Order: sequence, then structure tokens, then C-alpha cells
Amino acid sequence: MVDIGAFPPEWREGVYEAIACRRDVRSFRPDPIPPAVLARILWAAHHAGSVGFSQPWNFIVVDDLEIRRKIHDHVDTERLRAADGFEGNRKARYLSLKLEGILDAPINICVTCDRKRFGPAIIGRNTMYNADIYSTCAAIQNLWLAARAEGIGVGWVSILKPEVIAQILAIPDHVMVIGYMCVGYPVEFTDRPMLEAVGWLPRLALSELVFSNRWNETPNVQLASALRDLDEVAKGDHSKGSPRW
Ligand SMILES: Cc1cc2nc3c(=O)[nH]c(=O)nc-3n(C[C@H](O)[C@H](O)[C@H](O)COP(=O)(O)O)c2cc1C
Repeated sequence: MVDIGAFPPEWREGVYEAIACRRDVRSFRPDPIPPAVLARILWAAHHAGSVGFSQPWNFIVVDDLEIRRKIHDHVDTERLRAADGFEGNRKARYLSLKLEGILDAPINICVTCDRKRFGPAIIGRNTMYNADIYSTCAAIQNLWLAARAEGIGVGWVSILKPEVIAQILAIPDHVMVIGYMCVGYPVEFTDRPMLEAVGWLPRLALSELVFSNRWNETPNVQLASALRDLDEVAKGDHSKGSPRW
């Protein structure tokens, strides 16, 4: 039977720690991931919630260097094309960023969503057709957090055309490419998101994102104060992981 109580403090801390210390990783060491560890991370992904319990995901583990080279070439073309969307100084800064580790990482994992699995009628998808995609994103987040707990880095690459990846990986038409992930032991887990550290964008204050009852209405005083407290903690030292409470 599942215990309905809260986790003991050290388990709870572990969950928040994984969340706080998860990073998008783009620089990897070449060391292989032991199969049992990889299996655990995939198990975590497979235990995400899914709309109507449809479990729409598949995980294509790509270690073939030739295939990864093809994908890398495509990503690099798209990375350069995307540069035109940024003006002046921001364009040069964008081009200086490392935004993928497709070839450095020992494996890539393409996470897909089978839009027909158990269909056509799926509980919850009649009104929210894309809920299968959201479910697949939840699986990816599980994978990302479990990987962090295992000391393994994950980097999500979206600078690509899903149809090109589908063609390279022989994915059928009714299956959608959702996440292309680089996975391996990282050179480092940085304290803060790289895009925050280089001043690309700031982390928003949580207290400004939470509303009460209606759009833009401030939460009650106690919740607002608790949220601001956490915002203050988040501004401080990032090297110690999650806020200590
Ligand atoms: C859907 C999605 C797509 C992303 N695509 C890329 C990408 O193509 N290249 C990249 O360097 N980072 C990518 N990222 C990582 C984000 O830049 C990163 O999550 C964000 O800057 C916050 O940093 P953190 O993940 O280290 O907390 C992506 C993240 C998500 C969730």
C-alpha cells in the first residue's frame, strides 16, 4: 500500500535538490553510461503521468556516430539560420553560445510521441488533443531529474526540424519527435542556467508569476510573503543547491 504521508526530510530534500541542481548540459565527457543506470533513467521517464494512461512515448537511444553526425550537421545549419532572428550584438552573442553536445555526449535520446497509441478515444484528449505531447514532456522532465540524481547530464536540443530527425531515424508519420536529448557525464553541472550566467535572460521572480483566483490578482499576504522569501533565497548562493527549509 502507498503511504499517504510526506517523505522523510532527507528524501524530500533529495527531490528538491534534483530540481534545483538540474541543468541543461552541453559539454560532456565521453565515458559511457552503464546500461543499468541508463535503464533506471528510462524507467523514470516511463513512470511519468500520461493523459488517459496512454504512455505515448518511445525512446530511441542513438549511439551510432554516423547518425549523430547527420543530426549534428542539420542542427548546425539550423543554428546558423536562426542567428538571423537576432539583431546586432545579440546575434554575435548567440553565435558564441554552445547550444548542443550531440557529438560530445556518448548517447543521444530521441523522445517521441505516438499520437495514435490506444486511440482514437483517450480519456482527456477529446478536449485537449495535445495532452499526449504534454505527457511526453513530463516523461522528459522525469528523465532529466533522474539523470541529475545519477550524476548524468542531459541537454535538450530544439534547434532542429522534427521532420528531418524523423527521416534520419526512420520514425513513422503518426509518431512525433518531441525531445532530442544529449545524455552523458557532464564536464560540470553549473550553479545557474548558462543563459542566466551569461546575462542572456534573467530568472523571473516566482512571486510575480503566481496569481490568485483570476489572472493578475495577487495571492494572499502569507503566500505572497513565502514566495518572496524563496525569491530572496534564489538570488543568493546557487552553489548549495535547493533552498534549505
Ligand atoms: C523544450 C526545450 C528546448 C530546449 N532547446 C535547447 C537547445 O536547442 N539548445 C540549448 O542549448 N538549450 C536548450 N534548452 C535548454 C534551455 O536553454 C535551458 O533549460 C534554460 O536555459 C534553463 O537552464 P537550465 O535547464 O540549466 O535550468 C531547451 C530546453 C527546453 C525545455
